[in-house]
Amino acid sequence: MKLSYYGHSTFLLEIKGLNLLFDPFITPNELAKNIDVNSIPADYILVSHGHEDHVADAVSIAKRTGATVVSNFEIVSWFGVQGVEKGHPMNHGGSWSFDFGSVKYVNAVHSSVLPDGTYGGNPGGFIISTDEGNVYYAGDTALTYDMKLIGDTANISHAILPIGDNFTMGVDDAVIAAEFVGCNEIIGMHYDTFGYIEIDKEEAKGKFSTAGKTLTLLNIGETIAL
Ligand code: NI
Ligand code: MN
Repeated sequence: MKLSYYGHSTFLLEIKGLNLLFDPFITPNELAKNIDVNSIPADYILVSHGHEDHVADAVSIAKRTGATVVSNFEIVSWFGVQGVEKGHPMNHGGSWSFDFGSVKYVNAVHSSVLPDGTYGGNPGGFIISTDEGNVYYAGDTALTYDMKLIGDTANISHAILPIGDNFTMGVDDAVIAAEFVGCNEIIGMHYDTFGYIEIDKEEAKGKFSTAGKTLTLLNIGETIAL
């Protein structure tokens, strides 16, 4: 697997030549101004919830690439209204097998409304299970005991967790979340994009390190092997 970062909560996970794009928010993000949104490939676009900072570029990328949007029922229905032809609706606790592996839509403690005010269902995260490893993408969420269920039922190799505080859990709670999901390899998201969520990156890495875990903070545009 390969993981690329495009800022905020936007990641591209490449599995067996298939591209899974998470929560595309690039063109409004000043920090991602060097990313060419039209060069980003996508076979699937996974949307955790309806907020603007998670869907801003999703319609245009879906139309350009023909990608399938994977999200909750309400959000997939909304993309259909926007003219996106392929969608796969899910809801909490459900799994589906795709050509790259399986996806489970899991709980997130947050809110969800689409940019035009349409109800966005309940917010979620995704567990991506593949031959090459299992990735938990938490979406925007508070720390919740439900994460213990993930640790009990899935062998998570990498967890992508929000760490910016204010709108989601912050670093201290994210360390506990990593403990709950039973994962030592953490990739941070949802930090530094806005004033409310600016963090001290070295301090954050230190807190994970003290807990025996690694926090990786990718540069925007960087790609790593998982
Ligand atoms: Ni949000
Ligand atoms: Mn957000």
